[in-house]
Amino acid sequence: MKNLIESPLWPALKADHETLKKTDVTDLFSANPSRFDDFSVKSSGILLDYSRHRMTKTTLGLLADLASMANLSAQFQALFTGKPVNTTENRPALHTALRDASKKPLTVSGENIQTTVENEQIRLFAFAEAVRSGQFVSASGKAITDIVNIGIGGSHLGPYLTTTALKDFANTKLRFHFLSSIDKAPLNDVITSTNPETTLYIVSSKSFTTLETLTNANSLKAYLQSQGHTDIFPKQWVAITAHPDKALAYGFPPEHIFETFSWVGGRYSIWSSVGLPLALMIGERGFRDFLSGAHSMDEHVKNTPPEKNMAMLLALLSFWHAHFDQATAEAVAPYSQRLQALVPYLQQAAMESLGKSVNLNGDTLTAHAGPVLFGQEGSEGQHAYHQFLHQGTLCIPVDFILIGRPHEKHNGHHHCMLLASALSQAEALTQGLSTADIQAKHPHLTKAQAAHLVLPGNRPCNLLLLDELTPATLGALLALYEHKIYAQSVLANINPFDQWGVELGKQLLPDILTALEAPTNPNEPSSLLTHLKKLRGS
Ligand code: F6P
Repeated sequence: MKNLIESPLWPALKADHETLKKTDVTDLFSANPSRFDDFSVKSSGILLDYSRHRMTKTTLGLLADLASMANLSAQFQALFTGKPVNTTENRPALHTALRDASKKPLTVSGENIQTTVENEQIRLFAFAEAVRSGQFVSASGKAITDIVNIGIGGSHLGPYLTTTALKDFANTKLRFHFLSSIDKAPLNDVITSTNPETTLYIVSSKSFTTLETLTNANSLKAYLQSQGHTDIFPKQWVAITAHPDKALAYGFPPEHIFETFSWVGGRYSIWSSVGLPLALMIGERGFRDFLSGAHSMDEHVKNTPPEKNMAMLLALLSFWHAHFDQATAEAVAPYSQRLQALVPYLQQAAMESLGKSVNLNGDTLTAHAGPVLFGQEGSEGQHAYHQFLHQGTLCIPVDFILIGRPHEKHNGHHHCMLLASALSQAEALTQGLSTADIQAKHPHLTKAQAAHLVLPGNRPCNLLLLDELTPATLGALLALYEHKIYAQSVLANINPFDQWGVELGKQLLPDILTALEAPTNPNEPSSLLTHLKKLRGS
């Protein structure tokens, strides 16, 4: 199916949506006491409640038909079995293979990649264990106390999110630091907060050409040398890359190079050696739990029909709102401080994947491939941007993420407040507040004053309830979103696995940098650049 909008199902979906516009979600709940059961699904320790969308079983049936028309299940088979779904780079996207412990052979370019993955995992876990146990010692013979991860994009966001989210599962005293931005401030912070004699430096870069990462690594290395720590590189440095040749050329010995693979996209790389910081924090067992949670979600997505398939449902609902409610943005609100880094992680996953303007044939898209994704930890976000969700003119579907059973240290009243906050926000979005309600409550208000208090209600949201936040459920949650994004790409008929749009800026940078660092020329016409040069000079 080239364009689903041209499908014979479209008029039926449109008519259904028009009819439902006159219905309140609260009435749908009143009319059907089992609405929650009918519109929720559970897998891999995560419950998805999608009962708060203005939809009926007819809508669900139509959306499932749409999924069949788009060959969604077949496209997932293509993904899982290593077909070259990344069409512009002519390669598969096999992040799912990294978390499949079944040892079922999977061949890419004549090589059984399951063996390759397993061998690399064995090396990685052995190294992580040596560092954790103190068997790996620094150049001065000391045990490692601090880890600095130098990487950006997928080589930063995954390690940062997972080590933040799973802090309560840390079974080591190692401290973790992240160097991502090219801004010198975090580099200086790392320098002042770590002791080089007991620090392990990880340079994580799939391409091993990323300017920010290499500049940070070079500066740190030069700083250490300037301080007389001439033996720290490469003894206390490791590289993670899909280009070991480049790491070798940089000076890393082979035993300090861990591979991620060309068929693993940067934004899907946390499951590979890029996950080393997490392996260092929670050990092999914890990391394997993380992988197996994701694999459990893979199995659910692979084997479940669209109307019960969590990832497909999330994508279908997003697609439906985009087309019929002009929903050009979506919010993610995790009600868990541990998940504070989830939004930037998902932003890269969704927006590098769906930020495309042409379909697989190179034809211009007639609709957005996916919405803008934004959000914040829930209880903070509701005191910041939620006003826009409740009363703004745009329809912005929200994913509320809740943890059912918190870690024992965080249980009690605060946790109940968190849950109640999320539920009340969801309820307010659904119920709204009508003019009649306001007038009854505040009869003295003028019409204009009352209008400011009205909340339209019927604003869509999903509730994603994790039984608890563990390595396994975090793995499942990330896999769920990966598959939602893939399903969105299938519905939009685009390639989600490339990111050509970021290349031009990278190419323009060197000349601009040279101009910025060149001495001021008084004959240069005034521009922002000359202004900046003056400021820097002062
Ligand atoms: O510029 C975008 C990007 O290529 C992302 O896709 C990637 O995660 C990030 O840069 C970092 O790339 P690398 O891991 O190759 O350093």
